[in-house]
Amino acid sequence: MKKLGVFLATSFLLSVIYIGPGTAQLNTINHRVDSVLQLMTLEEKIGQLNQYNDDWEVTGPVTIDTAKASQIRAGQVGSLLNCVGTSRTRHWQEIAMQSRLKIPLLFGQDIIHGYKTTFPIPLAESCSWDLEAIGRAARISAEEASAAGVHWTFAPMLDIARDPRWGRVVEGAGEDPYLASKIGYAQVIGFQGSQSGDTTSLMACAKHFAAYGAAVGGRDYNSVDMSERQLWETYLPPFKAAVEAKVATFMCAFNDINGVPCTANSYLLKDILKDKWQFNGFVVSDWGSVVQLINHGTAGSEREAALQAFTAGCDMDMESRCYKNELPQLVHDGNIPLVYIDDAVRRILRKKFELGLFDDPFKFCNADREQRALNDPSHAASAREMAEKSIVLLKNQNHLLPLSKDTRTIALIGPLIKERMQNKGFWDVIVPGYDSAYVVSQWEGIRNKVSPGTKLLYAKGCTLDDESRDGFKEAMKVAKKADVVILSIGERRDMSGEARSRSNLNIPGVQEELLKTLRDAGKPVIVLINAGRPLVFSYTVQNADAILYTWWLGDEAGNAIADVLFGDYNPSARLTMTFPRSVGQIPIFYSHLNTGHPAQSDSSRSYSSAYIDESIYPEFEFGFGLGYTTFQYSGLTLSTKKMTDGEKIIVSMELTNTGRCEGEETVQLYLRDLVASVARPVMELRDFQKVKLKSGETRTLEFIIDRDKLSFYDQQLNLVAEPGMFELMIGASSRDIRLRDKFELSE
Ligand code: BGC
Repeated sequence: MKKLGVFLATSFLLSVIYIGPGTAQLNTINHRVDSVLQLMTLEEKIGQLNQYNDDWEVTGPVTIDTAKASQIRAGQVGSLLNCVGTSRTRHWQEIAMQSRLKIPLLFGQDIIHGYKTTFPIPLAESCSWDLEAIGRAARISAEEASAAGVHWTFAPMLDIARDPRWGRVVEGAGEDPYLASKIGYAQVIGFQGSQSGDTTSLMACAKHFAAYGAAVGGRDYNSVDMSERQLWETYLPPFKAAVEAKVATFMCAFNDINGVPCTANSYLLKDILKDKWQFNGFVVSDWGSVVQLINHGTAGSEREAALQAFTAGCDMDMESRCYKNELPQLVHDGNIPLVYIDDAVRRILRKKFELGLFDDPFKFCNADREQRALNDPSHAASAREMAEKSIVLLKNQNHLLPLSKDTRTIALIGPLIKERMQNKGFWDVIVPGYDSAYVVSQWEGIRNKVSPGTKLLYAKGCTLDDESRDGFKEAMKVAKKADVVILSIGERRDMSGEARSRSNLNIPGVQEELLKTLRDAGKPVIVLINAGRPLVFSYTVQNADAILYTWWLGDEAGNAIADVLFGDYNPSARLTMTFPRSVGQIPIFYSHLNTGHPAQSDSSRSYSSAYIDESIYPEFEFGFGLGYTTFQYSGLTLSTKKMTDGEKIIVSMELTNTGRCEGEETVQLYLRDLVASVARPVMELRDFQKVKLKSGETRTLEFIIDRDKLSFYDQQLNLVAEPGMFELMIGASSRDIRLRDKFELSE
């Protein structure tokens, strides 16, 4: 398993803009950086660009280096990753304080969905479409990790993902650049807080720059072949949003784009990031990605690899040691001007000053604070809330859900129902002293929820991935005795994640077969699907009475699932990735182009852009998700149907909760540019609002359409809004459009 692995009031969180240091402070910092820089030898400068892993294996083979401590003492290391806890970070920092210039170390770690408190996997969180809640989860993660000595998280992952074969879809916010940009922005603000140097915050890292999610065939680390348009329109926007949120650092991606590895890609790192976007933080390589330039075949030696990566704009070398070993000679030989080294060192030292580490290198090493932060009871409550908001109700035949808490007998079946650690998903952090006792299993969550008279029966039925059907009989026996069956199946948690690409997206092993068997018991079956990616499960879609896609929900999984099953929480999540019917439909996403042969429907697809043996529709579309109430959309009005340049259109509509309980609706606004100088997608998400209404309540919603929302990259890749007609679509998902109109952008 790959892992290390001041709560802000809700309304306050998103109104906070991270301002970073003010001009006066920045001048002082720059001055202090320069005063340190002029004392440094070349070797010490290069040391700042060198990052090592702590002494244990985490993300790959570790280069064993018994001399790590002496290198730190000699000022040859700028940063360490994966040091867990204040005693460990204090240990290393004390060694750094024995160095000539006492330059403090930076401690980085993958805090992907929580430190001690594990929140839902990022893809699950994205399905909440709830920016405040997502920001709050990042904030709490920062509070815990910073109290444990960490300065810097390698998150958020901002890679757009449209191919669920790619295991790392688990770490991102799905397929849509607009939504992923909003989420990425909220996460950066959540991690970094509002003030640089505050001890409850972490520096964030926008990764993996760029287009890592577009790996050919969904195979991790694979090449990316991509047009400039695709890059700018789809893959870069979340990174741009992170720069706008003042993200402290960037990480370059493992992949190449059109043959140029991202680690050595000066177009990405220099031209776009540092020049065009004026990013003034620093760029770290991915794990060993500098030395991997040799595998890519663009460098013939470690020296060439170091030269390429460094001159392209990658400032810090994570675990490949090429900078440390090769940069000194490259500078002596005149291949790298010293000013380039100084620029990279300045970027890193600036962050150390901003964090206040030069004033107090042990600022983040307070063991009492660590204990308090890790035992803050409000964190579990927030994790439960985030988990509730992440569960997607995909099917609910005959309103089977919510169940009554007084149901007489419930059969709880499946390999995941009693699991604890599985709920943590990929990329959890193992914090010594805090183990699986903190995870609420589904069994426990349900047991705590039902009334004392309810009888719970259990059968495992099968394992997650072997072929044995031996447990089917017992499961059947139990199902027959119950009024309703809850079946918990899915992936093992390490099946989605880094280096976990799959060519087959079925629910593994004989788990769907178990469902088939249980159908014969004649009892209603609710299926919980636990996974880190969209899976293919057509049999379940057709045969289960109700389906909850629970992803991996973290520590509070069991409680949150029980809240939804028994109606204490009305499910509100909406998919952020299209779910295919079959692997052959991949890549599949809602914002495709129309083509010259558009497919109209499954009954008229001859000579159209379709498969002859598969539907044109996905299993579940982007934006889809059910709840326990219903909403009516009405009264669409546009303040004008003709918008001149510089004007805005105010779109208003009424939303009514027509069902029997309170609930939340995610109203989605899509636009289509009907005729443009380059073909435009059939629809693009351009706004959304998540609204909570009581039964019978009506609210008027307003959306603003401005020039930005109509813009796209023309043939010369200039961002333009072209005059002409636009279609406006408002709906409950990308397929369930309830209101439509057209308007014109005039000359
Ligand atoms: C991953 C990064 C991660 C790094 C450090 C790499 O293998 O691609 O996302 O931050 O390891 O753990």
